[in-house]
Amino acid sequence: MPSVLFVCLGNICRSPTAHGVFEHLVDSVGLAGKIQIDSAGVSGWHVGEAPDKRSQQHAARRGYCLSHLRARQVVPEDFASFDLLLAMDNNNLRHLLDASPAEHRHKIKLFLDFAEGVSVREVPDPYYGEGDGFERVLDLVENACQGLLTYLKRQYGL
Ligand code: 4NP
Repeated sequence: MPSVLFVCLGNICRSPTAHGVFEHLVDSVGLAGKIQIDSAGVSGWHVGEAPDKRSQQHAARRGYCLSHLRARQVVPEDFASFDLLLAMDNNNLRHLLDASPAEHRHKIKLFLDFAEGVSVREVPDPYYGEGDGFERVLDLVENACQGLLTYLKRQYGL
């Protein structure tokens, strides 16, 4: 079964949003249980916490439930366990590349590599920001989740 790990800094805003949105999308196309989905943070600052209330509220308005998710930190086993480790920004990407054994480095990519029609390559951190940061995260995540699903269907014949 293909497996995907979404990774950000705290695992309470961007990567749980991607986790919940992708779960919902996979479910909606009848592929629930056919793709393993998880998320984690490069930091351990929020381990055990539910996603940020603001992420939960903005996601809920679009029909995504994030409340069952709990933050965890990336562990060394993740590099062997997952087929794809998808970083939300370049800092996360660098952290993963530094921590990964060489034989698993090819699995590490920027999540927005799967997005179409956007000029940005990073999902901006909404945590300290004002305004529409959480909506922007959802727009980018929804876009890249579609591309990721297309890729996995083709790659794994789902
Ligand atoms: P995330 O956002 O990486 O998208 O979960 C953040 C969450 C918490 C912090 C920074 C970013 N923090 O500094 O605690």
